[in-house]
Amino acid sequence: MPAFNFRHIKDLYPIFWSKSREMTKKISETIAASPSTESVIEIREWASRATLDIIGVAGMGKDFDSLTNPSNELNETYRKIFGSDRTAQAVRVLLGLLPHWLATRLPLQRNDEIGNAINTVKTVAASLVAEKRSKLESGSAHGTDILSVAMESGGFSDADLVNQLMTFLAAGHETTASALTWAVYCLCRNPDVQSRLRTELRTELASALAQDGTMNSTEIDRLPYLNAVLQETMRIFPPVPLTLRETAHDTTIQNQFVPAGTTVVICPWAINTSTKLWGPDAREFTPERWLKPGTANTGGAESNYANCTFLHGPRSCIGKDFAKAEFACLVAALVAKFELQFEDEGYVLKIQSGITASPKGGLRIRVREV
Ligand code: HEM
Repeated sequence: MPAFNFRHIKDLYPIFWSKSREMTKKISETIAASPSTESVIEIREWASRATLDIIGVAGMGKDFDSLTNPSNELNETYRKIFGSDRTAQAVRVLLGLLPHWLATRLPLQRNDEIGNAINTVKTVAASLVAEKRSKLESGSAHGTDILSVAMESGGFSDADLVNQLMTFLAAGHETTASALTWAVYCLCRNPDVQSRLRTELRTELASALAQDGTMNSTEIDRLPYLNAVLQETMRIFPPVPLTLRETAHDTTIQNQFVPAGTTVVICPWAINTSTKLWGPDAREFTPERWLKPGTANTGGAESNYANCTFLHGPRSCIGKDFAKAEFACLVAALVAKFELQFEDEGYVLKIQSGITASPKGGLRIRVREV
């Protein structure tokens, strides 16, 4: 947990920023290569590559370089797991309904794929831990990344560290990629919000946006409109739409008896858009709710529990501060540099369910440099 403390996370802002700018630079190259002044990109794919690279450098001190080299093995592996083809989706739903011990033992191609993917990720994680351990022993490693901080704490065996790495690779990559995709969706749907945000970014972050500009936490965390847009996006479209818990003992929920061992579905998506908790405009994208006096952290909701994007309590998201900072840098770099529009003006959203939710088939957008 100390490795995920804000006092460490603040050292990672320059990494979040430089990877975000690498992403925008690569997107600019697609425009330069197109015959017109704009190009069409699939933003979910770009988001996924950027967040994989970020968790690599900031989490483990290793650049997977998937922004430059999309056929990187880890990127391909994650695409298989989070893939969007119909069979993968149907199997995922089916497996989710079966008990875990049964689901994982079925002789399905999907289970083989998941088994192979786990092996790939485990091999990558184990080699990273071994590399870092030998650097640490030779006295040359004092990284700011999460793995270095955790290893230097001395509290973990190398086998523990491999498991921890696999968890935050899985938990911290597609989640933030989904958040960025939803932010782009919301900004294309609300061009007035997009242009107001761009004005704030270009005015307040001028030096960070200059060539070779860097970023620190005080610079970006103080922007009210950026905060409002990010918070509102994650409220309406929480990247983890639902999760499960099992009751440890007999209990009651709203006076309903619930015996021990019952699976309970927690649905951040439903809670975050409940009209009872958020008022009649709960389902509308309204960044202004985070701008009224005293509402920057609550959006005006009376209870902290009205917002379950990162859950609450001892098993909530450990990477919350990491994710928020990374998300801020990605959105700021993208929106400051490009005007974003749906490729198809009449685009109708269809949602693809899965471990993280996102627009079905990806999100194709038209980008033009401002
Ligand atoms: C916008 C991005 C993110 C969202 C919305 C998010 C949300 C969540 C949620 C809802 C959980 C609880 C899942 C459950 O128990 O069912 C969780 C767990 C977790 N998250 Fe995140 N997360 C995000 C980004 C990250 C990042 C960037 C990291 C790491 C750098 C991370 C690391 C973790 C870990 C390690 C857990 C497991 C904690 C535990 O079980 O004790 N997350 N996250």
